[in-house]
Amino acid sequence: MGLFDFLFGKGSAQSKDKSKTGKQPTSTMSSSAAVTTSPMAKMNPKKLNVAKRFELSGRTGQGSMSKVYRAYDRELGRHVCLKILDKEKTKRFEARFVGLKKPSEGEICMSLRHDNIVRSYEFGYTTEGEPYLIMEWVEGLGLNYLIETRSPQLTGHRINYLGQLCDAVQYLHDNKWLHRDLCPRNVMINQEGVLKLIDFGLTLPYTPPFCAAGNRTGTPDILAPEIIRRKATDHRVDLFALGITAYEVFTGQLPWERSVSSEETFHRRLNTPPKTAKELNPDIDDELSEILYRAIANDPADRFPSAKAFKEALLQLEKQDY
Ligand SMILES: Nc1ncnc2c1ncn2[C@@H]1O[C@H](COP(=O)(O)OP(=O)(O)OP(=O)(O)O)[C@@H](O)[C@H]1O
Ligand SMILES: [Mg+2]
Repeated sequence: MGLFDFLFGKGSAQSKDKSKTGKQPTSTMSSSAAVTTSPMAKMNPKKLNVAKRFELSGRTGQGSMSKVYRAYDRELGRHVCLKILDKEKTKRFEARFVGLKKPSEGEICMSLRHDNIVRSYEFGYTTEGEPYLIMEWVEGLGLNYLIETRSPQLTGHRINYLGQLCDAVQYLHDNKWLHRDLCPRNVMINQEGVLKLIDFGLTLPYTPPFCAAGNRTGTPDILAPEIIRRKATDHRVDLFALGITAYEVFTGQLPWERSVSSEETFHRRLNTPPKTAKELNPDIDDELSEILYRAIANDPADRFPSAKAFKEALLQLEKQDY
């Protein structure tokens, strides 16, 4: 099942079970909505005529929610990344949060300023009514590609890359956002070895209404047990996803085998212990294997409390040259 089917298939609606909102998460979550406290970037009021403004030099990605192009921007005078969101899918996703004043992907992206987060320049609507986003063009490769091809580019740099990813995630949490889709596919490494987190299509304000029970939106591989169980969430859902991503970086595999059915995948995750990283890759020593195991603990209280703490644990390992 693809991400889109999962997103909009039955059982993934926001807060179906409103009576069981559960205890609200603590820690870094603020009590007031980020959307109302921080000024959001303004969208371009003019409709974008794609053909007039851009020379499209190739389609880079077919995301589940968008088309992504490398393009020459005649207005900015440089190559950029143009992401054009699917009108209907975006509308259906945003409809889940009606009344909660959820900022759009464009607004969220424009508010983020971090070396390990892709830089956004502009957002708005095309003349066709599709939401668009103009970003820096990241010259590099997806972390998923590096993992799948067992790229030598990873050798000796795994802790460094994950540390950079932790910095991006810590920044998001400090600024009251939940990424909600941390996976190798949404991470790129540029030619200078700088990691860039991309794709804020599922990002939510880290505030009580968006953490209420019931929102199972996301990529099945990385959904935390509390999301699967439709419990209230907090920043530790991102820490779980970060842990799964780290498993993939160090072992090339998932801690629980993927099944063709999401429900079977979820049943496995809730009812069977994960493989240790050492079982998946004998080159991994006990210390690292234990850190990775803790990162994906079933109970959020047993995980690392923050992305910063996870990074520190990795940096304290005796062996650093993974
Ligand atoms: N700024 C960028 N520079 C270069 N390539 C990019 C950039 N942003 C996205 N891409 C490429 O386009 C692909 C799809 O982008 P993105 O993940 O933002 O779209 P999406 O529709 O939300 O994807 P999905 O839902 O499948 O994760 C990425 O995996 C990456 O290969
Ligand atoms: Mg993506």
